[in-house]
Amino acid sequence: MTQILGISGSLRKGSFNTALLHTAQDLMPEGSTLVAGSIADIPLYNADKEQAHGLPDAVVRLKEQIIEADGVLLFSPEYNNSIPGVLKNAIDWTSRPASDISKVFGGKAFAVLGASPGGFGTILAQDAWLSVLRTLTTRQWHQGRLMVARAGDMFDDGALTDDKMKDRLRAFLAGFTAFAADQQN
Ligand code: FNR
Repeated sequence: MTQILGISGSLRKGSFNTALLHTAQDLMPEGSTLVAGSIADIPLYNADKEQAHGLPDAVVRLKEQIIEADGVLLFSPEYNNSIPGVLKNAIDWTSRPASDISKVFGGKAFAVLGASPGGFGTILAQDAWLSVLRTLTTRQWHQGRLMVARAGDMFDDGALTDDKMKDRLRAFLAGFTAFAADQQN
C-alpha cells in the first residue's frame, strides 16, 4: 500500500484547495491512500518559543506524517503570485530542528498542485515552492502539472465537479503515486 500525505495550504472552510484534496482522496489509484494532514493548529514560527518549549504537538504530528508517507502532495493556494504564508510557516516549522531535515524530507517524493479562481491556477505559487523543496532536499515529481484555474466554476459543495479536470487529477495522482512508490524500491 502506497501512502501519500496531502497538505492543504488553506484554513478556510470553503477552500478550493481543501476541496481538491478531498476529491483527490476519492481518485487515488488502487493500492494507495491519500491521508489529509493538517496545518490548522500550527502557530506562527517563533524561535524563542521553539527554544523554550520545543516543537508544538501539531508540528510533531505533521513531521511524523511526512516521515510515514511515501510521498507528499502540497495543495497550495497562491497569494500575491507566491506561496501563502500559512503553508510556508507550517513547512518551516517541520524543517526544525535543521538536523532533522534529512530524516523528514531527504529524498522524499513531493509535488505541488493547486486551485485558484484566477486564470493561471497557482502556477507561480507552484514555481515558488521549487526553491523551498530544493533546499529541503526532497525529490520533485515533474512529469505532471495540475493547475485548477477558474476554480469558481470547477467546484460544488466542497468537491471538484468538472469531469475533464477530474480525469486530469486522476492521471496526476496515478503518475505521482507510481513515482512515490518507486522511490521506496
Ligand atoms: C489571493 N488570491 C490569488 N489568486 C491567484 O491566483 N493569484 C494570486 O496572486 C492571488 N493573490 C491573493 C492574495 C491574497 C492575500 C488572497 C487572500 C487571495 C485569490 C486566491 O486564489 C483565492 O482566495 C483562493 O480561493 C484561495 O485558496 P482557497 O482558500 O480557496 O484554497
